[in-house]
Amino acid sequence: MRVLVTGASGRLGREVLPRLRDGGFTVRAVSRHPRDDSTVEWLAADLATGDGLAAALDGVEAVLHLASSPARRTHEVDVLGTRRLVVAADQAGVAHLVYVSIVGVDRVPLGYYRHKLAAEQVVAAGPVPWSVLRATQFPEFLEELLRGASRFGPVIGDPAVLAQPVDAGEVADRLVAMLAAGPSYAIAEFAGPQVLRFDAAVWAWRNARRSRRPLLPVRIPGGLGRALRSGGLTTTVTPTGTRTWADHLADTYGGIGRR
Ligand SMILES: NC(=O)c1ccc[n+]([C@@H]2O[C@H](COP(=O)([O-])OP(=O)(O)OC[C@H]3O[C@@H](n4cnc5c(N)ncnc54)[C@H](OP(=O)(O)O)[C@@H]3O)[C@@H](O)[C@H]2O)c1
Repeated sequence: MRVLVTGASGRLGREVLPRLRDGGFTVRAVSRHPRDDSTVEWLAADLATGDGLAAALDGVEAVLHLASSPARRTHEVDVLGTRRLVVAADQAGVAHLVYVSIVGVDRVPLGYYRHKLAAEQVVAAGPVPWSVLRATQFPEFLEELLRGASRFGPVIGDPAVLAQPVDAGEVADRLVAMLAAGPSYAIAEFAGPQVLRFDAAVWAWRNARRSRRPLLPVRIPGGLGRALRSGGLTTTVTPTGTRTWADHLADTYGGIGRR
């Protein structure tokens, strides 16, 4: 089966590509800036304009849609870009489109999540047979968040926010299995093995990095804070991944640690 992967240069894309190859799929990877990689066919396509999409979809049987632009032009790329992709996939006769979304897009009031939810709806209302996987946050994303939250010294955050980080490689395994299974016309969820409070995540991160940065507790106000503290980013769905936040920290920092 020839599979087109959007967002192939991203964190999840880099986990997905070798698994698809090993699983016997013929892979075509796209991003705006194609890579020099002899093991995969790379093409350029831009979801914000539609440039390159028709060529990228030519001869493709399934699409794994990972591309996203959380920080800028999100409506253009994630919502309208997903619509462009669905229309082009229909014209190319694609038999299955798998879209990756985020646990909590339907209950956590963040602008990015509203766009992801709208993109899910574009996929589900479209003519191409589909499946959606909502994943929780990758540990690397949680680390980026913690670095940002500690750039002025202490780690600033709401201690009671709940997260359930999931290994991107395990999400990639799940996506490959979904492609093999065919369209489900359903939204599935996939999360990591542990629900963590923000203060516990910070504590483990500080220890792994041999850092003494204190946590400066700041309660996130309003509906956003309530959603985040009541587990809006988490799920009880099983099976979960197996790799924990502690596993990620051990792999990243080992026994050496750094500030
Ligand atoms: N990160 C998380 O913790 C997390 C958790 C759950 C779900 N997800 C979802 O998983 C998916 C992948 O996340 P990720 O962390 O791997 O993302 P990422 O590392 O930020 O990668 C984003 C990808 O989107 C591509 N892209 C951005 N704008 C584009 C455009 N205009 N046209 C075509 N491609 C474009 C980028 O490629 P170029 O810049 O090379 O074009 C890149 O390959 C996203 O849909 C995200 O919402 C992420």
